[in-house]
Amino acid sequence: MQSPISKVIPIRVDEGKGRSPSIGEQLLAPHDRTQDARGRTLRDLRISVTDRCNFRCTYCMPKEVFDQHYPYLAHQELLSFEEITRLTSIFSTLGVEKIRLTGGEPLLRKNLEILIEMLAAIRTPAGNALDLTLTTNGSILRKKAAALKAAGLQRLTVSLDGLDDTIFRKMNDVDFPVADVLDGIAAAQEAGFENIKVNMVVKKGTNDHEIVAMAKHFKGSGIILRFIEFMDVGSSNGWGMTQVLPSREVIAKIHEQFPLQAIEANYPGEVAQRWRYVDGSGEIGVISSVTQTFCHECTRARISTDGQMYLCLFANEGFDFKTLLRSGRSDLEIANAVMHTWSQRDDHYSEIRGSQTTNLASNNRKVEMSYIGG
Ligand code: GTP
Ligand code: 5AD
Ligand code: SF4
Ligand code: SF4
Repeated sequence: MQSPISKVIPIRVDEGKGRSPSIGEQLLAPHDRTQDARGRTLRDLRISVTDRCNFRCTYCMPKEVFDQHYPYLAHQELLSFEEITRLTSIFSTLGVEKIRLTGGEPLLRKNLEILIEMLAAIRTPAGNALDLTLTTNGSILRKKAAALKAAGLQRLTVSLDGLDDTIFRKMNDVDFPVADVLDGIAAAQEAGFENIKVNMVVKKGTNDHEIVAMAKHFKGSGIILRFIEFMDVGSSNGWGMTQVLPSREVIAKIHEQFPLQAIEANYPGEVAQRWRYVDGSGEIGVISSVTQTFCHECTRARISTDGQMYLCLFANEGFDFKTLLRSGRSDLEIANAVMHTWSQRDDHYSEIRGSQTTNLASNNRKVEMSYIGG
């Protein structure tokens, strides 16, 4: 673990009269934003609110590792809602506009709606609300959807790896029925969520024969289905290139039945490549972090459940912001530490992985997905 303020960068002092400058104004010249060593701007923040999950997806929290002896974090080790809100507010002054809550399974964090309300009240320096979204496995969405919407959550992404109940139960490895996730998605629609996305991790030989059925199911529903290449995150999911189905094959399979056409990204640095159905019935996306890396435009910082800042999904070390938050430092000092940490960032793991066909983690331990939420 590294201390983020081993070296504190100088703070720009605004001599202007009138109102006192905001943290962002004190730290940033009007024309520049927080850039890393590869010129990438800090734009989004992903915050894991719990390391626990009620699923044991074989590619994320395999049962053999995440059993009853696994050392989950104790409550006092987690960032509190106040700490998460303070940190988010500081990041927003530095140009972050998009927040994604993740887990583990974020809906397992008690009173999550209260945190959402607190985050929804934050305003960017331009006076806008943050783009506030969440990734869930959907298992308790039926119970939670209305409260999440009322609290101010703007968007929702649900993970779903297939429609075949037998395969789905096998992949979540806790025998959870697919019908309940589909019902959770329906509950989210009923609660008024628009722009719902569904993420399907494709594991060759396990659920790749579900691709077309999934496309057919969500086509025309207004829900955007995205196919994610199975990645070598963490050190325990037994990753190998033989289990990766390249996204171009996913597109080819769907295109055969439902013609597709590539479309532009919504914003620079979007991880998914977008495709629309030629018949106008919606769009799908593919996230090809193995076969078509996108590190060169990666704008994401991640805060783990225990308050470490990670600069890459595949990092093996975080920067300890929890200690900073608990040590009486001012917002300005913490903002300074965020900028300093980000400015040193040189991570580009997926590019380095290159032609590796087994998990590089065998000699380089990486943070588990359940701490930083994907
Ligand atoms: P939108 O705001 O809806 O565009 O969200 P998003 O696509 O950025 O977020 P989402 O959490 O849905 O991302 C989908 C999946 O893409 C994640 O679960 C990860 O598996 C993968 N992913 C997201 N960001 C990164 C990244 O920076 N690097 C890598 N390698 N994979 C990522
Ligand atoms: N490879 C690709 N995606 C993964 N996710 C979890 N583990 C992996 C992996 N090894 C995805 C989940 C979910 C999000 C949190 O990350 O499916 O959509
Ligand atoms: Fe839980 Fe999501 Fe990981 Fe599956 S992928 S074990 S649902 S955190
Ligand atoms: Fe960003 Fe790391 Fe993913 Fe590359 S591998 S896109 S640097 S999170």
